[in-house]
Amino acid sequence: MINYSEALKNAARSMVRFKNPNNLLRMVVRFIARESNLTQASMLVYESSKQRYSFIDSKGKDRIPIHLVRIDLDHPLILWFLEKKDKLQILEGYFCLKKLKSFNRVKHSELSPQDLKEIEKIKELMISLNASLCIPCFYHEELLGILILGNKKTGEDFLEEEIQFFETLANDSAMTIKNAETQTELVKRNAELEEKLKENKVLRDKEQQTYYEIMLSLAQEVRMKDSSTFGHLEAVEKLGIMTAEELGLDLSGKKRVVLSASLRLHDVGKIGIPDSVLKKEGSLNEEEWSIMKEHVDKGVKILEPLTDFKEVSDIIRCHHENYDGSGYPRGIKGDEIPIESSIISVVDAFHAMISSRCYKKGFPLDFAINELETNKGKQFHPKVVDAFLNAFKKNMFAYYDSRIKKEIKSQNKPQDKIQS
Ligand SMILES: [Fe+2]
Repeated sequence: MINYSEALKNAARSMVRFKNPNNLLRMVVRFIARESNLTQASMLVYESSKQRYSFIDSKGKDRIPIHLVRIDLDHPLILWFLEKKDKLQILEGYFCLKKLKSFNRVKHSELSPQDLKEIEKIKELMISLNASLCIPCFYHEELLGILILGNKKTGEDFLEEEIQFFETLANDSAMTIKNAETQTELVKRNAELEEKLKENKVLRDKEQQTYYEIMLSLAQEVRMKDSSTFGHLEAVEKLGIMTAEELGLDLSGKKRVVLSASLRLHDVGKIGIPDSVLKKEGSLNEEEWSIMKEHVDKGVKILEPLTDFKEVSDIIRCHHENYDGSGYPRGIKGDEIPIESSIISVVDAFHAMISSRCYKKGFPLDFAINELETNKGKQFHPKVVDAFLNAFKKNMFAYYDSRIKKEIKSQNKPQDKIQS
């Protein structure tokens, strides 16, 4: 005789281990066949993809050939469990062959001839399956399976306590099946969501990259027609990175890319400045100068969609701020100015001074270096000037010196100081 309470506890403990509901049901079938000494124990489960109930397992000497038997949704066995629960109460919520055989239709006048016909069909099915009990596995209103049990090998009738045990086991199984299904569904949905997010990220990265490339071409175009800062973005980028390294700035991960992008894109807002101002040779009047100053805010606006590089906008916003607070657009000073913006300010001014353009020649290196030194602590951040000059003398002086000497040899003396 089974200790039913202990058996249920053990079964419940085992159920927790199963993530695949089919393995759980096989365990339940094996457990019942082994412990209850029955001629057979089988489990029907609902296959949603095929809209029918199929056997997942069958054990015992009278076991059912599980691949040969299917029960359709319109079979009375299923209809009674799903749709005739009230009438099923007459049979105490499950089918017992012995009770069906002794069913007294006179006593149950509330049953229609159709009901009786269906009960007859259920009886025939149970006989063909060597079943003496059919116990539903319900999760709320869902019939997830049916536990089909043969006779006791001893030939005795089932006790009330035994049937209650099977009913509890069937409903516990249904709950565990549902949990496992929910978990599987959640894992599946999570995987789909992750896949979707990954796809979105790829698209977004591509979109950002394309926008960045467009911005670079724009910046190049601006640079080419801007009379005040004619030169190469690549050179400004190189000088800026060199200065940042000399300063010992952290350029790990995205930070180097942000600085490079800022060095290349800092004047992209000049695309919104009229050519009459942008390409003017010589000094700008007050009105023209105020138009020119708008390139900072215009640049920030243009770069807004580049959300992955918000830092670039923040740096660009301050590239004309001066260390002593005399710059624009906000007049902030000292360490209120991002160090990257101060780097742009120094290297861009330096490169503009030494670069030759169509209407004038570049200044000699000594002049440009002297300008930086003179404006140290005024227009320029002193530490940035020092770092730039150190790095420049170490790495680039020889290159630019020979280039400028060559230019001076073939040209006249350099002219006015450059505004940027
Ligand atoms: Fe600028």
